[in-house]
Amino acid sequence: MRLERADRDARGGLRLSPVRPATEADLDEVWALNRQAFAEAWTREALFRALAEGFDIRVWRAASGELVAYWMSRDVADETHIMQLAVAPARRRRGLGRQLAQRVLAEKRRAGIRTAWLEVRAGNRAARALYGALGFEEAGVRRGYYTPAAEGAPREDAIVMRLDMRSG
Ligand SMILES: CC(C)(COP(=O)(O)OP(=O)(O)OC[C@H]1O[C@@H](n2cnc3c(N)ncnc32)[C@H](O)[C@@H]1OP(=O)(O)O)[C@@H](O)C(=O)NCCC(=O)NCCS
Repeated sequence: MRLERADRDARGGLRLSPVRPATEADLDEVWALNRQAFAEAWTREALFRALAEGFDIRVWRAASGELVAYWMSRDVADETHIMQLAVAPARRRRGLGRQLAQRVLAEKRRAGIRTAWLEVRAGNRAARALYGALGFEEAGVRRGYYTPAAEGAPREDAIVMRLDMRSG
């Protein structure tokens, strides 16, 4: 994919704006990336409701404005539950997912969050590798939690992963 000139820095990389909290104005693009990235996409209404209900949604844009990634978690007491982390398909394997997760988790640690939880499809190799690299450990399996990944396939297990943020 051709990179726009405005998105290149001196090293030919992508020029990025700071990660920031999402507003309603971001949500249609977040929803579009959600539908690209996940088999079980949310409805637009559910996304707007999540923001209104205080879910932590962060967007990361290129200097040109292009949405390159987003994060969504629900924080309760000293725990965060990561609901979604997605990088635009054309921007994957450049460390953006790892950086976004590291930044938001570091901020949450400073704010007193002690544990991060998530569920991931058993067959989602990319996400499992990413979360493993971030220090998450497998904490359990929810059998048949997800709709089948392909027509005719069985329902897919969820791997529950947990990060103890008191260490490290
Ligand atoms: C999972 C996802 C967020 C990763 O984002 P990304 O920016 O491509 O990931 P990074 O480049 O930061 O990769 C970090 C590490 O994760 C692992 N990883 C990422 N993509 C991988 C892939 N396709 N296959 C194997 N390992 C992968 C690697 O260990 C990688 O480190 P390395 O590049 O040094 O080998 C992205 O693939 C995505 O949006 N997927 C669809 C949505 C999704 O499944 N979200 C996670 C569940 S909530």
